[in-house]
Order: sequence, then structure tokens, then C-alpha cells
Amino acid sequence: MSRRAVTVFLLLLIAVLIGVGLWLRRPGRPIPIPSHLRHPAALARPFGAAVSIPAARADSTYLRDYLETFTSMTPENAMKWDAVQPDRDSWEFGEADALVTLARKTGKRVRGHTLVWGTQLPAWVAGGHWTPAQLRAVLVDHVRTEVAHFRGKVESWDVVNEPLANDGRLAGDVFLRVLGPSYIDLAFRTAHAADPHARLFLNELAGELPGPKQDALVALVAGLRRRGVPIDGVGLEDHTESTHYPRPAQLLTILRRLTSLGLDVEITELDVALRGPPRLALEHQAEAYAATARACAAVPRCTGLTVWGVTDRWSWLGAQAQADLFDARGRPKPALAALRRAFGRG
Ligand code: G3I
Repeated sequence: MSRRAVTVFLLLLIAVLIGVGLWLRRPGRPIPIPSHLRHPAALARPFGAAVSIPAARADSTYLRDYLETFTSMTPENAMKWDAVQPDRDSWEFGEADALVTLARKTGKRVRGHTLVWGTQLPAWVAGGHWTPAQLRAVLVDHVRTEVAHFRGKVESWDVVNEPLANDGRLAGDVFLRVLGPSYIDLAFRTAHAADPHARLFLNELAGELPGPKQDALVALVAGLRRRGVPIDGVGLEDHTESTHYPRPAQLLTILRRLTSLGLDVEITELDVALRGPPRLALEHQAEAYAATARACAAVPRCTGLTVWGVTDRWSWLGAQAQADLFDARGRPKPALAALRRAFGRG
């Protein structure tokens, strides 16, 4: 074979190998379901975890721990604005679809997270010089398109995430600056029109503790209800630590303040960072997880509990926080059994 022919052959071979490599790593490719999965323990209500698409693809232990433990899924990042509409009118649902397909094939409930948030926005939204009419159109188009895409597959949505600052005032993101507080009403009304069967939640950080932010949260959702905005529930994230976490009485107070408005509530992002001497810290961590599960189980309209992550290795807090129910090698911690006992058998 001539040198030229060999060169052409080698170039073609390299091109084919690159093509195959890109195809194997394409966004949206199915997530293989491990064989011989054990069914999750039957619990009284949905018990979920935030699922990272990179972790689910790269770590078989993470994937097995998730599939054998939980009955609900919240995509950790794959449904956020920067992931699904990174550029205007350019939609990328592949990775979120892969997670939703995995959930449906394995009988998991899906919580959509999140439609409107001032964080993880692509630059074209966060940095835009918007008139109210322009941004209203962009928000409506985003919410309508994403909710319609998942219609019938997502049981509930975190429609608006973390609208409040720690002092209880509305957080100053682009939506509040340009549209005022009514952006929240608009987001919920748009989501309901796109999927009338999905439950619609407002999701908030640190609303579980007493103080101005909790009072503002209750006032905010009471106002939405008064205006007839289609809101079904409130998500309390409950990112906490083993040395100080909301006591059951504190959680029961806010859970009942919200359900008294005719709303469902969920614990939506529970994790308990380890603080203090390790042996005691694991014990306190188990108590923290169990106390939260016990509080939710005591309130009929607390319709689910989701932890924010599966194994420490992939936690948003970093492995050193040791905040999740499984350690960095995917081994269950005492907190998992404690939570299950407290949450109640199905
Ligand atoms: O997608 C990029 C990737 O292209 C890049 O290579 C990589 C390295 O820079 O960054 C990737 O983006 C990261 C993104 O997660 C997706 O993995 C961001 O840097 C990182 O900041 C982002 O962190 C997420 C965080 O929200 C952002 O605020 C965490 O994973 C996620 O667990 C966390 O979740 C939030 C909830 O949505 C809302 N409640 C609070 C909770 C904790 O902050």
C-alpha cells in the first residue's frame, strides 16, 4: 500500500475513533441500569435524593446506592436554566431526559428543580438589559417550554427557588429588579398553564428556622394564596449541621404554619454536615436526619423528604463535609437506618 494510502487510512481511522468517542459521550445518552437491583425499603411517603448526572454516569456505586435506597429523584443541576437553555432559544434537555427516563424506568417520583432562580442563570439572562416586557416574555417562554417538555413526567416543580434574602426581603436578582415581586405570580401561573397536573412549589433555604426569613416566607406564600396564584406547596431545604440543626418542635412549627395555609410541605434538600469529634458527630448526624424525618412524618401534608446528594464523594459541600447518608466509598452511615426508622414503614 502506498505511503499516501496508509496516511489516508490512518486519518480515516482516527476520524472514526473520534466520532465513536464523541457518540459514546453524547449528552442525553441513556444511563445504564445496573442488574440485580434490590428494591428500596418501603417507606410511608416519598424518600428522595438529588441526583448528579456526572456522578450517575461515572460512579456505579453512587448509582446503585441511589436506585436501591430512594423512591424519588430531584435532578441536582440538569433542569436548571443554565443547563436547559444556555443560549436564547437553544434548548438542551438531553441530560435531564436521561435522568427522568432513569427515574421512570425504576419507579421513582420526579421533582423538577428549578424553573426560576437568580443563580445558575446563563449570562444572556443574568447580564441582559431587559425591559419588563422583554424579560416577562423570556421568563414565560422558559417556564412554558420546560414544563411542557416534561408534562406528565414531573410530579412536582420547584417553580421559584430561594426568592428571599436572609433578612426576609426579596432577593435582588434580575427578575425582581426588572419585573418586581409579581415575577413569582407569573412563574406559577405559567407553570400551571403548561402542566395543570403538576404540583407547584416555592422552595426556600433556611426557612425552617424561626426568624424574619421564616416569617417573610409564610407571608409571601399567604399572599400568593390570597391572590389565587396556583401554588400547591413549600419546599424547606434544611441544609444543616450535626452540631446545630432544627429541633423537632421548631420544624413542626413551620410545617404547621405552612400547612395551615392549605399547602403541602416537603423537606427538599436535607444534608447534615459533620461537625465536631468524628464518633460523636456521626451519632449527632443520625439524630439530625431522624429528627427531620420524624417531624415530616408527624404532619400529614408533609408529602416527602429529599436529601441533597447520595454519597459524600459527590456532595456539593465537598467530601470533607461528610454530609450525606453514604460515605465517600458509598457505604451507608448510621443516619440512613435512623432516618428510615423515624420516617415510618410504608
Ligand atoms: O456545568 C459546569 C461545568 O461545565 C464546569 O466544567 C464545572 C467546573 O467549573 O462547573 C459546572 O457547573 C457547576 C454546577 O454545579 C454543575 O455541576 C458549578 O460550577 C457549581 O457552582 C454548581 O453547584 C451547584 C449549586 O447548586 C450552584 O448554586 C451544586 O452542584 C448544587 O448541588 C447546588 O444546589 C443548590 C440547589 O439547586 C438550591 N438550593 C441550594 C443548593 C446548594 O447550593
